[in-house]
Amino acid sequence: MKTLLTIFVLISAVFASPPDEFDRELYNEGEQIFDNKCSECHKKSMNIGLLMKNFVEEDNKLLNLKAPTGNEISYRLKSQIGSKDDIEFQLMETGDFLVDYLYNPDIKKTICLEAVIRHFDTMPSMKGKITEDEIRTVGHFLYFLEGFNEVNKYYHNIEKEFE
Ligand code: HEC
Repeated sequence: MKTLLTIFVLISAVFASPPDEFDRELYNEGEQIFDNKCSECHKKSMNIGLLMKNFVEEDNKLLNLKAPTGNEISYRLKSQIGSKDDIEFQLMETGDFLVDYLYNPDIKKTICLEAVIRHFDTMPSMKGKITEDEIRTVGHFLYFLEGFNEVNKYYHNIEKEFE
């Protein structure tokens, strides 16, 4: 049984291995920045069905969110900016978007759904509160944040699932 499990873990590890662009250390660093500088307004991740019910049917009164969640942003970044066929390039492009948006937020540049964004005022600028490097690092985290999309199915920590 143990051997079988080992073989299964090995096989899944091969098939579910993250792309070369995924950097675990950078991801963890980005998550810390998110916790420190974004999480007072942005929840990290919530069930999409629940989010849609909240925004579309309940006028945000179910969850009373202050901002779109990290996993919503993650999905929108990957589906609205560039192409996920070239992850390396898309990481740069989504990083550029974040740097621009966080310093000069403007609802006209939104990548979010109208049904979601209409519940919020424009995000306050973070000029002077976060460096460009930190934004790109938090961008790495957001890009690979587990979500409801196909891009980051390899993010799941295989070893943890068997603990
Ligand atoms: C004081 C509250 C607050 C903080 C802190 C904050 N945000 Fe926001 N953010 C918002 C609100 C409200 C929105 C929705 C309105 C908008 O899009 O401008 C938003 C929207 C966004 C969007 C989507 C922009 C769009 O409309 O397409 C991104 C990306 C984003 N935030 C990233 C971040 C990151 C990364 C951090 C931390 C470094 C952060 N935010 C910190 C309130 C905040």
